[in-house]
Amino acid sequence: MLVSMEPSLKKSCFRSSSDELVQDTGVKTYMTKQVMLQTYETAKDCIQTNYYGTKNVTEALLPFLSLSSSPRIINISSGLEKIENIKDEKASKMLSDVDGLTEEILKEVVTEFLNDVKEGSLEEKRWNTLLSAYMVSKAIVNAYTRILANKYQSLCINAFNPGFTKTDMTRHKGMYTVEEGARGAVRLALIPDDGPSGCFFFQMEETTF
Ligand SMILES: NC(=O)c1ccc[n+]([C@@H]2O[C@H](COP(=O)([O-])OP(=O)(O)OC[C@H]3O[C@@H](n4cnc5c(N)ncnc54)[C@H](OP(=O)(O)O)[C@@H]3O)[C@@H](O)[C@H]2O)c1
Repeated sequence: MLVSMEPSLKKSCFRSSSDELVQDTGVKTYMTKQVMLQTYETAKDCIQTNYYGTKNVTEALLPFLSLSSSPRIINISSGLEKIENIKDEKASKMLSDVDGLTEEILKEVVTEFLNDVKEGSLEEKRWNTLLSAYMVSKAIVNAYTRILANKYQSLCINAFNPGFTKTDMTRHKGMYTVEEGARGAVRLALIPDDGPSGCFFFQMEETTF
């Protein structure tokens, strides 16, 4: 059994340190400008940590998982990365085409996104301008989860959103305790062999990508 949690908003994604109040999925949360803004370097770092970190760890552990009688992978995602939130038409189309998804396509989306960050054309290309590297990295992790589930059909491989949980990342603000946030991931780690695979869960419930 493998529970793969990518570290997500790594510290080097940050840029400045002043606080501001923002609206986040209907919940007023204190986020920091350092989290919301990004340079090309910090965006690249975020994708590297969240997507390539997840991918590298998964590839390293897959041979061991194949020895397990109940192999499970749970990739920790978030609620921000739903495909409907990716406004760049080309990327949105590529990520929506479940049957056509490949790792090369994910690389293409990442490369295009990072080029747009570098050229300062996020707004023009209709990417989100706040938290975009985090959102894109999570959308890519979700798509990667679907690719893996398709490729390794004897494993149960799912993506999971814990919900807005009081951890270091949120400066201990949120709607859920750590235990409540973790509950759904633990359940997915313990599902029977005929359980779901290639799905996305918000806490205990299946949801749409
Ligand atoms: N909390 C929420 O509301 C929420 C909502 C949706 C999704 N999530 C997701 O849940 C997962 C866990 O986050 P959390 O809320 O538990 O945050 P957290 O308490 O801040 O934990 C983040 C973890 O990532 C590690 N980390 C940070 N940068 C890293 C790097 N560059 N390389 C390796 N490890 C690194 C940290 O290690 P150190 O302690 O050593 O720094 C820490 O163990 C993340 O993927 C996050 O996106 C959280």
